[in-house]
Amino acid sequence: MSPRKKSSSAAADLVVVANRLPVDRVVEPDGSTSWRSSPGGLVSALAPVMRANDGAWIGWPGDAGEDLEPFSHDGLSLVPVALSEEEIEEFYEGFSNDTLWPLYHDLVAKPSFHREWWDAYVRVNERFAAAAAEHAAEDAVVWVQDYQLQLVPAMLRELRPDLRIGFYLHIPFPPAELFSQLPWRRQVLEGLLGADLVGFQLAGAAQNFIRLVRQRVGHKTHRDLVYLPEGRRVQARAFPISIDTAGFEELAASEPVVARAKQIRHDLGEPRTVFLGIDRLDYTKGIYARLRAFSELVAEGELGDDAVFVQVATPSRERVDQYRRLRDDIDRLVGRINGDLGRIGSPVIHYMHSSFPREEMAALYRAADVMVVTPFRDGMNLVAKEYVACRLDGDGALVLSEFAGAANELRQAFLVNPYDINGMKTMMLQAHRAEPKELGRRMRAMRKTVSENDVSHWASAFLDALTEGRTEHSKTTRPATRS
Ligand code: F6P
Repeated sequence: MSPRKKSSSAAADLVVVANRLPVDRVVEPDGSTSWRSSPGGLVSALAPVMRANDGAWIGWPGDAGEDLEPFSHDGLSLVPVALSEEEIEEFYEGFSNDTLWPLYHDLVAKPSFHREWWDAYVRVNERFAAAAAEHAAEDAVVWVQDYQLQLVPAMLRELRPDLRIGFYLHIPFPPAELFSQLPWRRQVLEGLLGADLVGFQLAGAAQNFIRLVRQRVGHKTHRDLVYLPEGRRVQARAFPISIDTAGFEELAASEPVVARAKQIRHDLGEPRTVFLGIDRLDYTKGIYARLRAFSELVAEGELGDDAVFVQVATPSRERVDQYRRLRDDIDRLVGRINGDLGRIGSPVIHYMHSSFPREEMAALYRAADVMVVTPFRDGMNLVAKEYVACRLDGDGALVLSEFAGAANELRQAFLVNPYDINGMKTMMLQAHRAEPKELGRRMRAMRKTVSENDVSHWASAFLDALTEGRTEHSKTTRPATRS
């Protein structure tokens, strides 16, 4: 890549670079298009700080298409990066979600390694880096997000050495023994080392990274620092992500959500216990194993005859084979369980393959007695934190996989090993039978954790650490991280 001059329109003091823009394109009946905000923790945390710092968000609009001009939406400057059909297949579905995703999630599924997917990954990362270089003001702070864009930090540094560059990985970072399978392991590590600060969900992931840099790239390291030959230092640290806790609490307290939660329990037939699972339909989430565990408890009569499981599975990455197969497997399992154990008008599993707005999610959280979150591996798992935030009365039980990043903080959950079906059954039963006093004690402690560590704390902690380490060429002041 040849270094690019900043365009005269470059004005952003804070640039977020993420695979997706925080908006969805809506096609109206007359064929015209408009944009709708896609609510998420990241955008709710970053929107205020972006507005205060002339921020720009660079990302893919989510479908195949030509270049679109930058535009503003809801006070945010958005810079679309176009992907062709072929790039969606090779960069997004291929290398990001069929190579890196399974490799970084403990090989829960077998990763595919294809050289042409890697070439597309390099090409698309270059495009994101060029867009960031073009839109960042002098000495700006650029925050690159997630596994789809691991090469951007080094590419961007080459184009714009004046920038302060941070990178945050939202998913797990695997141990050296697994990561080393990647044919392009060294290039990925060198890509990340273009950042000044590399953030992970957990301290263990940061240690995996430091160890790999020492082993595979040969740089000196000490604790959380990497010393590069040119004199630059890169820090690798944990910054556990969180949710917009106050936003969820407010939603859960709102009159329509309270009414909707009541309605949900009524529509379910006023069962004594409602178990709930809400996940993207992903093989890392352990949906199959948890439904089996629940159905065995029902078949054995352990739950009485009025417990139901509500499972919401949000459609995801549907053109990737492993996801298609998973959907068929879950469809079959739910059909079999309801066929064996359901009665007319009362299935034991209520399964919905759809995505719901935040209001409906909050109502489901309020309606559920036992939330079951059992991923085989998960960077954090925000559903677990959202459930806790919505339990305003301090009741409800959380059954949580010890392999979710959230288990590090939510120690008072009923922790399970999702590979151990009998162990899961025991914990689900324990959660179901626990006395209100015990549930209250556990939930109050978890609510304290989630309210003290919300997503805006996460964003400020990262940006403060990134800007604190500024070197002498820095001129701008630190972005104001809390508004
Ligand atoms: O957890 C990683 C992540 O990329 C999230 O940021 C995102 O919400 C989710 O996976 C689904 O991602 P996508 O639909 O872009 O593949």
